[in-house]
Amino acid sequence: MTKTISSYFISDVLVEWYEQNKRDLPWRRTTDPYIIWISEIILQQTRVNQGMDYFLNFIAHFPDVKTLAEAHEDEVMKSWQGLGYYSRARNLHQAAKDIVERYGGFFPSSYQEILSLKGIGEYTAAAIASFSFNLPHAVVDGNVFRVLSRLFAIEDMIDSSSGKKIFSGLAQELLRPENATQHNQAIMEFGALHCTPVAPNCRECPLQEKCQAYARKSVLNYPKKKPRKETRKRYFNYFHIEKDNCIFLRKRTGNDIWKNLYELPLIEAPVRLSLDEISSLPEFMEFFPQVDSTLFWQISYRDKHILSHQTLHTVFYKVNDLPDMQYFENNCIKVPFQELDKYAVSSLTDKYLEKIRKRNLS
Ligand code: ADE
Ligand code: SF4
Repeated sequence: MTKTISSYFISDVLVEWYEQNKRDLPWRRTTDPYIIWISEIILQQTRVNQGMDYFLNFIAHFPDVKTLAEAHEDEVMKSWQGLGYYSRARNLHQAAKDIVERYGGFFPSSYQEILSLKGIGEYTAAAIASFSFNLPHAVVDGNVFRVLSRLFAIEDMIDSSSGKKIFSGLAQELLRPENATQHNQAIMEFGALHCTPVAPNCRECPLQEKCQAYARKSVLNYPKKKPRKETRKRYFNYFHIEKDNCIFLRKRTGNDIWKNLYELPLIEAPVRLSLDEISSLPEFMEFFPQVDSTLFWQISYRDKHILSHQTLHTVFYKVNDLPDMQYFENNCIKVPFQELDKYAVSSLTDKYLEKIRKRNLS
């Protein structure tokens, strides 16, 4: 990717657009780094509309660094309640104490010092440095990724480490240094209001002629992200079969979850099936060759089990008085209840077996 525009043309267009379209937001009426810091941390957490009340409330309770530093942690947490990610509130509190201790209560005014504060990363440090001190540090947030990836048709993925470097380098090149405050506000606001994720207003865009994604008619294909693995749904139908105070277990083989762990005999399906539907599957006929399914089963337990890339929906069918256990005798192991805990099982199976252990030992 090479940058084709060497002037600050883009910055100037964005700033001009910003002056005409910006929202009037309270944290834009100040250069107080404390106020800007609080607003940025809250806005990482929530959208502008929802964040506004939290922001106003927080600032009313803790109007400056010193008040925040001296507050009781419970009070700070209370003001954060509902926003989530409570570590962010704890970090705010800790950083406020640091500012009092290390800088006598004056917010530090260099990028490196700001970055050294707890809970402040590159984005927040650049935002505070530019909005409060007009220091030439380009912000890179989701809006900036989107705007730049479209303007320059950048194929690099925003969630790869090489991609991040390319975007922050480019963002920095585009920034007109003497106008850092306006430039950073402008590019974020342009992303938030104009070059939006699903409905960018390309028709009336002041950068349309410079926009390479527009030229390729593929604006919605940017930014590029690593393909996210979809969560796969799987439906596990387990059969609980007992004989002589034993239960049948089978070892999982194959390249799949829970390899080499034990579980009840299983029929897996890609969709949710009723027992009636399961009973016409070949696996079922193998398990229960001469059995009328209506006679011998009851649902013991339903569960949902969430793994990192799959969700398992499980049903355990208890089969009573099964006359022909040939298949299980041949293909499973017969485990006495007292010995169940000798077998390595998944947590899902363990949860089920725990119920059985309790029932049989009580
Ligand atoms: N989101 C993050 N920072 C912002 C800001 N300064 N103004 C509006 N939205 C934002
Ligand atoms: Fe964004 Fe469309 Fe403008 Fe390109 S032309 S910068 S995609 S709004």
